[in-house]
Amino acid sequence: MKQKILEMLRSGDDYISGEQLSRELGVTRSAVWKYIRSLREEGYVIDSATNKGYHLEKCPDLLDADKLRKGRELYVAGNEIEVLRSIDSTNNELKRRAAQGVPGGLVVAADVQTAGKGRFGRAWSSSEDGIYFSLLLRPELPPGDIASVTLAAGYAVCLAIRRFTGLDARIKWPNDVIVGNKKICGILTEMSAQSDRIDYIIVGIGINANQQSFPEEISSKASSLYILSGKHYDKNDLLRAVIEELDSVMSSFLVSLSSDDADGFRELCATLGRRVSTQRGGELIEGEASDITASGELIVRCDDGHEYRINSGEVTVQGIY
Ligand code: BTN
Repeated sequence: MKQKILEMLRSGDDYISGEQLSRELGVTRSAVWKYIRSLREEGYVIDSATNKGYHLEKCPDLLDADKLRKGRELYVAGNEIEVLRSIDSTNNELKRRAAQGVPGGLVVAADVQTAGKGRFGRAWSSSEDGIYFSLLLRPELPPGDIASVTLAAGYAVCLAIRRFTGLDARIKWPNDVIVGNKKICGILTEMSAQSDRIDYIIVGIGINANQQSFPEEISSKASSLYILSGKHYDKNDLLRAVIEELDSVMSSFLVSLSSDDADGFRELCATLGRRVSTQRGGELIEGEASDITASGELIVRCDDGHEYRINSGEVTVQGIY
């Protein structure tokens, strides 16, 4: 009933009387009033004026499962979509669900995370301005291919952000999405596997959507779509766009990495062609990022011509934070 009231309030610019709402929805006026009060508690700003009725002034910037489910059918990512107001971490929530045996394809998104996780045990600050969600996959891939799954997810995020905002989103190998030289999205991929097969993969994605500023310690590295474009984005529309791209990219990618996929990753990878450095077993590897392999590793060509395949860890890229 609340949804119906909202639809009616959204449908016109003018005030709608309590009487009209109660007549068209077949409920009493006091029931209408109770639903309006409950919508206000959820953050909707609804004005009420004597002799005029109700007017929707502002919607809360909250995720809405019904909106996220609207659109074309999804197969690999988002065949089930759930929204939570608040959770410790959407990755943790999916781990709990995976342990109960839920099938791959489930997306869980949350407005707020109370213990959002970044890579290397860092925290991921998760206020309502951002987008936080995780995707559960149960692919038939060898455990070594996890880097390419992260890359495929980053590629899908780039495509969605480019389509949705027009910003020049690119992958910073292996798990960041950047615009210019600032990070706007981080991906944390976690896996449970036997020696020869993957039990499940959780791809956790955090997008800096509508943040207006960042704490000083990270403001030189991080930005948001709002800061970069001056526009406030509807979190549901943006997340839906990302899930659709994830579904398309993962559908082809999890079957077999085609050369088109790999060309796409390369084209949108800001790391390629730049000087990079990384630590491996106490050794500093420095050189030019020259290619990405089919399983997602970064090839670094050192000045002496030596080539290294890097499959994880932190890579410093010259010119990007
Ligand atoms: C990083 O760049 O360090 C990775 C950040 C990943 C953050 C996302 S937000 C949704 C999901 N849940 C988490 O706790 N972390 C990931």
